[in-house]
Amino acid sequence: MIGRKHPYFPYLEAMLEAAHLAKGIHAYYQAKGFTHGTKSGPTDLVTQADRESEEAIKELLLSRFPEAGFLGEEGGSEGDKALRFIVDPLDGTVNYAHGFPFYGVSLALEVEGKIQVGVVLDTSRDEAFYAVRGEGAFLNGRPIRVTERKELLGSLLATGFPYDVAKDPENLTYFHRALSRGLLVRRPGAAALDLVYVAAGRLEGFWEVKLNPWDVAAGWLIVEEAGGKVTDLEGRPYRLGHRYIVATNGHIHEALIQTLLAQG
Ligand code: IPD
Ligand code: CA
Ligand code: CA
Ligand code: CA
Repeated sequence: MIGRKHPYFPYLEAMLEAAHLAKGIHAYYQAKGFTHGTKSGPTDLVTQADRESEEAIKELLLSRFPEAGFLGEEGGSEGDKALRFIVDPLDGTVNYAHGFPFYGVSLALEVEGKIQVGVVLDTSRDEAFYAVRGEGAFLNGRPIRVTERKELLGSLLATGFPYDVAKDPENLTYFHRALSRGLLVRRPGAAALDLVYVAAGRLEGFWEVKLNPWDVAAGWLIVEEAGGKVTDLEGRPYRLGHRYIVATNGHIHEALIQTLLAQG
């Protein structure tokens, strides 16, 4: 566990509280029904639960830490950049809208450009994944670790696709390469959960193209704190805003990148 005296403990505590507020909102609209609109196209949905979760999270975090900035998927960016929260209030909106129970909320605290705290809550299963830099990664208070599997073939992998994949089909090429070489690949539909599943040893690896900072900021830290590796598609250390992310248990990392990039 992360000690109460740790300088980031108050942030972790507030972020877990904010994640549970989102959980209540996700559950409320799942039971009551909700309206939705679209964003970039007909399959890019936004529901009342996305918007109200972001508002509730923002209000709680900024009332506790008024000096912080805030970057959220639904509200854009505001305030100080030295200390800011990066939030996806509902990751897996399409799953949520269909009652397919694989969605959650992702919150990260970035300090001087470095993620220091990450929280991802699977709001339908009440699984809270979190990490503070240097302190390890946890699931509902218990330490988690990536797997020790070394063979790519037989590893369980996940990926995802942007809403405009028809216009930007690059990941279809990688997906095809992976499947045609016999790899086991899933497309669960919530990138933040895909990442923490690598951290928890439920997947060996995950890659995706064109994710946003709010999709990955928390999960990235949680994977690294669980002993995993996170890079771009050339094996360079990951940075927020990169077009590519590859997150694995470390052992299969090179082999996965080589397979995705292998021509012919
Ligand atoms: C999406 C999910 C999905 C990924 C998309 C994301 P949203 O986020 O994480 O798994 O493939 O690229 O945009 O819109 O559900 O928060
Ligand atoms: Ca997302
Ligand atoms: Ca979202
Ligand atoms: Ca969205």
